[in-house]
Amino acid sequence: MKIAVVGAGLVGTATAHKVAEMGLGEVVIVDIVDGLAEGKALDISHALAVLNIDCKVTGSNDIAAIDGSDVVVIASGKRREPGMTRMDLLCENGRIVESVCRAVARYAPNCILIVVTNPVDVMCYVAWRTTGFPRERVIGQGGVVDSARFRWLLSTHLSVPVKDVQGMVIGEHGDCMLPLLRYTTVLGKPVTELLDEGSLQRIVERTREAGGEIVRLLKTGSAAIAPGAAVAIMVKAIAGDEHKVLPASAWLDGEYGISGVFIGVPVRLCRNGVAEIIELELADEEREWLHRSATAIRAGIEAWENMKGGG
Ligand code: 2OP
Repeated sequence: MKIAVVGAGLVGTATAHKVAEMGLGEVVIVDIVDGLAEGKALDISHALAVLNIDCKVTGSNDIAAIDGSDVVVIASGKRREPGMTRMDLLCENGRIVESVCRAVARYAPNCILIVVTNPVDVMCYVAWRTTGFPRERVIGQGGVVDSARFRWLLSTHLSVPVKDVQGMVIGEHGDCMLPLLRYTTVLGKPVTELLDEGSLQRIVERTREAGGEIVRLLKTGSAAIAPGAAVAIMVKAIAGDEHKVLPASAWLDGEYGISGVFIGVPVRLCRNGVAEIIELELADEEREWLHRSATAIRAGIEAWENMKGGG
């Protein structure tokens, strides 16, 4: 397995580090800034040596280094500053993702593409349009980290181990995300029977705000360690042909009554990318949220297309 990470910023570095630490394959990091990817690759290699892990990690400022990769992670672009929404990054990051994806289509035409750059659902669309890849091979990270934040909040609130909390967040990786309370359990017991409505709603709100909370606290940065771990779990599912169900941004073509957008839904991930989109039964209110998410993403796609049309 050759895994390329494009973008040696905080998220790209955290991703490369975790993927290498988990021994998922050879890792190559690419960044246009001279020396940055090479420096990060050396630092990660030294960290692996501390842990007695043998895994080849290299860095380059030449995008051709992604040549023949099985998985390419796109983590390049601007990150949010305090007060910004993920959608505010649309124009600048769209152009960056587009240019990276031209190179992906050329050098790694058979890869599975995992997009992390925000606004991730719209960036998946940009990546898919630019590469011309089949929809199975373009996925976005958002749901894995959102679900982890949701599960962590519940576990701390209930003082139970996080591994005992099963739950999933679907929809936009943004303000309209939908933590699925009705499908959330602690050791099989519905969370709706364990916490009152007010507490659950506060946890839902804090989940939606979790990325922004970190941006506000850091002042000059955004979350990186958790998104990196989230991507690594997705790479593991692909590399190991696990057929594991994870929430990820995938292209919908009628599923959930939605078409023409990438949006967070449960998908079964395997060596070929998305093996299946799992359609959960949603209550009316949940369906409304998901459609609200789709509307927000569609508006982002239209804004991007208009921007491109206008040069
Ligand atoms: C987050 O939610 C970076 O979008 C990422 O923290």
